[in-house]
Amino acid sequence: MSSHPDSDFVTVAKVGAIAEGEGQAYVVNGRMVAVFLAQGTYYAIDDFCPHMGASLAGGTYDRGYVVCPWHAWCFSVKDGTWTDNPKVKVDCFEVRVASDEIQVRVPPRS
Ligand code: FES
Repeated sequence: MSSHPDSDFVTVAKVGAIAEGEGQAYVVNGRMVAVFLAQGTYYAIDDFCPHMGASLAGGTYDRGYVVCPWHAWCFSVKDGTWTDNPKVKVDCFEVRVASDEIQVRVPPRS
């Protein structure tokens, strides 16, 4: 993992490291981030399920949503919304592809 002095984006993996419809967890700026590849686009949300802390990257992906592996809470990988109550969200983060690197931007906690 390397950081880029010209931006806050941090490289987490090479393109190809995450299969379509899969998630992987990475540490970015001290936080665990779940990165998904969904229909050719990468998305990043907080990896920590707000229910009891399971890794959302280990959940089951289905059409834009990930189902938590422990108790099946379901979140949008695009904006972190919990489907049972859209007022509840996990954080989501910017992702970009630079050359062949997947990069995520995690702002410092305020
Ligand atoms: S820990 Fe995710 S639903 Fe319970």
